[in-house]
Amino acid sequence: MNIQENISLKRYNTFGIDVKARYFVEITGLAQLQKILDLEAYPKKFILSGGSNMLLTKDIDALVMHINLKGISIVDENDDDVEIKVMAGENWHQLVLWTLDKGFGGLENLSLIPGNTGTAPIQNIGAYGVELKDVFVSCSAMEIETGELVAFGHEACEFGYRDSIFKNEAKGKYIITSVNLKLTKKNHTLHTGYGSIETELREKGIVHPTIQDISDAVIAIRQSKLPDPKELGNSGSFFKNPVISRKAYEKFMKKNPEAPSYEVDEENYKIPAGWLIEQCGFKGKRFGEAGVHEKQALVLVNYGNATGTELWKLAQQIQKEVAERFKIKIQPEVNIIK
Ligand code: EPU
Repeated sequence: MNIQENISLKRYNTFGIDVKARYFVEITGLAQLQKILDLEAYPKKFILSGGSNMLLTKDIDALVMHINLKGISIVDENDDDVEIKVMAGENWHQLVLWTLDKGFGGLENLSLIPGNTGTAPIQNIGAYGVELKDVFVSCSAMEIETGELVAFGHEACEFGYRDSIFKNEAKGKYIITSVNLKLTKKNHTLHTGYGSIETELREKGIVHPTIQDISDAVIAIRQSKLPDPKELGNSGSFFKNPVISRKAYEKFMKKNPEAPSYEVDEENYKIPAGWLIEQCGFKGKRFGEAGVHEKQALVLVNYGNATGTELWKLAQQIQKEVAERFKIKIQPEVNIIK
């Protein structure tokens, strides 16, 4: 079973926070996972996947289970579509590259998102006009209490903007073990409407983009704005973009006519948190080992030796100043482990 003790988690979280796991085990099979959940010697358990959406602020006094289940397979296909089953420990971007190599469409806009496939449904990952829920069929999850495998269909997941049942009622109760996705083999639905994608394609002179062209454009945009966690510790967008009511929106726009915004529906509007944070003067600012990225204010960065507490303090300071200036509460997208 190979349970290790006092292991540094620095290389297991994209923020690169150096905290320790009291116990640590690599999970590579479902039977092994079931056995470990049954171990009474380790009553406290902590699930760690790609570590790309968490901020660790202290040592983890538990058995950290690193989910490293591997495998991608085709479970169903016809001339038009294909359904694939992806084990939770598969790296998300490697999966996107695999689908492009096979000519399967659907994940191209989600290129280069850090993390593993098993955590993609938890926050319904999304970028450039596409969300996981657009290709999601179902997922399998092991109930921590019983070790039983349960299937969650699309509706059962209750997907929302960076949200799902796994962040709410089902939080901490399941370990997602695999995810099934439906992709297209031809007549792909292309999503090129997001402003920066259009610009990127136009600049390259591409009029009829392929899924590969879209992926390349997304990769170029992300690389120009978002820091590579291997070079600078970060967890992507630290905050969610706040959604405000129409009334609050009208008031806000009167005071800030130059602010970017998106209509969610008739009653709700989204304001980019990156803009709000930039207006408060945080963009590119460094506070000791922690900071706000110079090209995207929504991303907090670890210059090398920041502690989780330092980053969390900075995040709270940002929340406070944004609330004072704009009367808008911004909430973390990242899971804060306190
Ligand atoms: N903006 C600023 N200053 C900044 C950052 C953004 O003024 O420092 C403005 C931009 O000029 C633009 C608007 O805010 O008008 C939106 O910016 P951008 O297109 O970069 O997207 P975002 O809303 O900041 C969201 C997602 C990203 C995703 C992009 C593209 C959230 C929390 N973030 O960011 O997701 O890649 O859209 O779809 O919804 C992630 O979740 O980790 C992530 C990177």
